[in-house]
Amino acid sequence: MDKPTDWSARSDLVGTVDFTMMFAAHDAFSRDIARMITTCEAGRALAPETTVVWDRFKRFLLLHHRTEDAVLFPPLRAAVDDPVDLDMLAAMDVEHARIDPLLDLIDAALADADHGGALVGLHELAEELGAHMRHEEQRALPLLEARLGRAGWDAFGRGMRKEQGLRGAAEYLPWLLDGASSALTAAVMRQLPLPARVLYRRVWAPRYHGPARAAA
Ligand SMILES: [Fe+2]
Repeated sequence: MDKPTDWSARSDLVGTVDFTMMFAAHDAFSRDIARMITTCEAGRALAPETTVVWDRFKRFLLLHHRTEDAVLFPPLRAAVDDPVDLDMLAAMDVEHARIDPLLDLIDAALADADHGGALVGLHELAEELGAHMRHEEQRALPLLEARLGRAGWDAFGRGMRKEQGLRGAAEYLPWLLDGASSALTAAVMRQLPLPARVLYRRVWAPRYHGPARAAA
């Protein structure tokens, strides 16, 4: 499997637009695929905890791509005229479209308790999605930063909040930061308003991590 990029290693962190939330989401997708591969290799593809990981992964990945397709890429496409940039943005659409059939393939394998088939699909997904996320980080985000700046990026956060609402954030944030380094957690917390930070620490994270942790 392609090794995911470490969050703190991204050079774009020091640019004019802070893409922390995007990098954190990309790392969370890579984390979930790695977890799925580990559980499938252990023959636990149908265990309830695996189903929870897979269902969340699909839901948040589809939301992520839908939001990019709706509010991130169209304004950027309208702001560029260089054929190289337009080709790169067309590739973003093609790469998104290549992911959905892989999700279906893995779903079908899991429904048939076909661990081998699920593993093949998961490794393929790791390759496709890993390549797409690097392409997006290395080409699309710098172009967004240069052409649309902070306002272009803020549209993504607004789009996510509009689709999810407070209820969605209650699950999304602890999912995003599940297993994250303390540096990444602190960087994400800095992006949130105080009420969301308090809710995350006191309610959302304990609930996500289960009653044992909530009681600790
Ligand atoms: Fe993305």
